[in-house]
Amino acid sequence: MKYENISKGSFIDRPNRFIAQVEIQEPGNIRQECVHVKNTGRCRELLLPGAEVYMEKILSGHRKTGYDLIGIKKGEVLVNIDSNAPNKAVYEWLQSGVLFKDVTLIKPEAVFGNSRLDFYVETKDRRIFLEVKGVTLEKQGVALFPDAPTKRAVKHAKELIRAVQEGYESYILFVIQMKGIRCFSPNQDTQPEFADILRTARRAGVRILAYDCLVTQNSMELSEPVPVILKQDRLPDAFLLERIADLLLAWYDKNRRVLPWREEPTPYRVWVSEIMLQQTRVEAVKPYFLRFMEELPDIGALAQAEEDTFLKLWEGLGYYSRVRNLHKAAVQIMENYGGQMPGDYRELQKLQGIGSYTAGAIASIAFGQAVPAVDGNVLRVISRLLADDGDISDPAVKRKMEERLLPVMPKDRPGDFNQALMDLGATVCLANGMPKCRECPWEGLCRTNAEKAWLQYPKKSGKKPRKTEQKTVLVIRDKSCVALRKRPAHGLLAGLYEFPTLDGHATREETLCWLKRQGVHAVRIERLSDAKHIFTHIEWQMIGYCVWVDELEPMKKDKELLFVEPAQTQARYPIPSAFAVYSRYLEIRTGSEKIKDMEEGRDR
Ligand code: ADE
Repeated sequence: MKYENISKGSFIDRPNRFIAQVEIQEPGNIRQECVHVKNTGRCRELLLPGAEVYMEKILSGHRKTGYDLIGIKKGEVLVNIDSNAPNKAVYEWLQSGVLFKDVTLIKPEAVFGNSRLDFYVETKDRRIFLEVKGVTLEKQGVALFPDAPTKRAVKHAKELIRAVQEGYESYILFVIQMKGIRCFSPNQDTQPEFADILRTARRAGVRILAYDCLVTQNSMELSEPVPVILKQDRLPDAFLLERIADLLLAWYDKNRRVLPWREEPTPYRVWVSEIMLQQTRVEAVKPYFLRFMEELPDIGALAQAEEDTFLKLWEGLGYYSRVRNLHKAAVQIMENYGGQMPGDYRELQKLQGIGSYTAGAIASIAFGQAVPAVDGNVLRVISRLLADDGDISDPAVKRKMEERLLPVMPKDRPGDFNQALMDLGATVCLANGMPKCRECPWEGLCRTNAEKAWLQYPKKSGKKPRKTEQKTVLVIRDKSCVALRKRPAHGLLAGLYEFPTLDGHATREETLCWLKRQGVHAVRIERLSDAKHIFTHIEWQMIGYCVWVDELEPMKKDKELLFVEPAQTQARYPIPSAFAVYSRYLEIRTGSEKIKDMEEGRDR
């Protein structure tokens, strides 16, 4: 269908349903006009001040307004909002025989029961009622009807069901007055009753179709069929996933966090930050990262560093095998890759401590490879998006997630895509507590949000309960030194330093006996505070004693023991946070407390 005499303008406001104020922009003649809105729907998301609009000049003399508002630009898409246009376009389309062949009769405005339906069509051997609904509301690529509650539409659907029962074929045809639509769905938000009757109608044999339209400034014609998704139909996962990248990147451009490793994403910086960020929050990582970069600024420096140096730089971050692996991988890179970090996803996974997540992060952020980086946060976010029942602690579920994300990675911004997912998980789709769905770029796509099932996703099988171990921590000191012990090279807190620690909760007497066996005579023994430290699989329940001795010398036969001035422990010996409560008795701070001091300028 075509329009004559089209003028372009700019929307100002809509004082009532039927009228809009626009600025008409004709060459040499810019003026304000009152125009007729040929749409009784709300069109709220379309009629925004400043929007580009198109009007048809009406030549009939007895109207208050001289123009009909028929089109409006939404982003790059031109939307026709003329309520008469769908029926006119469908009439021409029916005549062209696209939907029904060999049409012998097309009767607009046909009465059936108590209703007037849009068309009655006959072919040689078919009798058909067809009701047309124009659709102008679009959200996230989904066309929605109605944009405001309509009793008439419900009544029409009921009449069409009756028509089927009386032996007619019947159709509801949603004419989407724009292009660029992925599917049609009834609008659950405005009128769940309409969605219900549509489902009932389909079950009763009413055919439900949706077509998009080719819209120009002066025409509209039906174009392609689009899928009709009724509520209980699920959109295919691939359909949802195809939509996520554009929305996510637009959100990221406005909301991205400024992080030290992000601003200069060299392979080394990305790698170290990603390893630190495993199991540790961004805020906690920042100062550690900056200090690490200062002390060990490149792969060569890391490869050459002594164990105590890199452990000290990690002190308080926990999960010390991460830094040991980091060091081993740096040596591998120096020996096997000429000191250059490999840029390939598969090659990266040959390095110590680099699994698919870290390889994906490095390859995408530092090397621009379009590969996913799926960690626990991403699993949570995507499981919620898809309302996926997979157990996210199952490695097969993670592999499947990587496979699903791979084809939707944007080739031009893979690193931003992965980091945007991380930011979304950290700031919007929260792990603990209520996700902030109103701030989410996928609010309209997310199944968990649609089903209000926030507490049900992600699915995660129960963790094994943590083992508890009882320990007695001894702060053994003479006038100048305190005893420290280097932990074994393997196992929990390997290679770090601790206060001598006994298994179990020892009484004062048992402790004194143990000391005697070491040849040490205790001058005084004081009970210290109890403490608890939680590792991934173990919880330590600690009691402690401060033991004053004449001299530490006799303990020297224990090869692992060191006697250190308290101030030196702070500077040189990495003592894990598990012992923080006891370090405090020496008036030294270790681990994350020390980092806090550095940040607040209290570092000695
Ligand atoms: N969590 C893990 N890696 C991250 C990154 N690169 N940016 C922000 N959060 C993260």
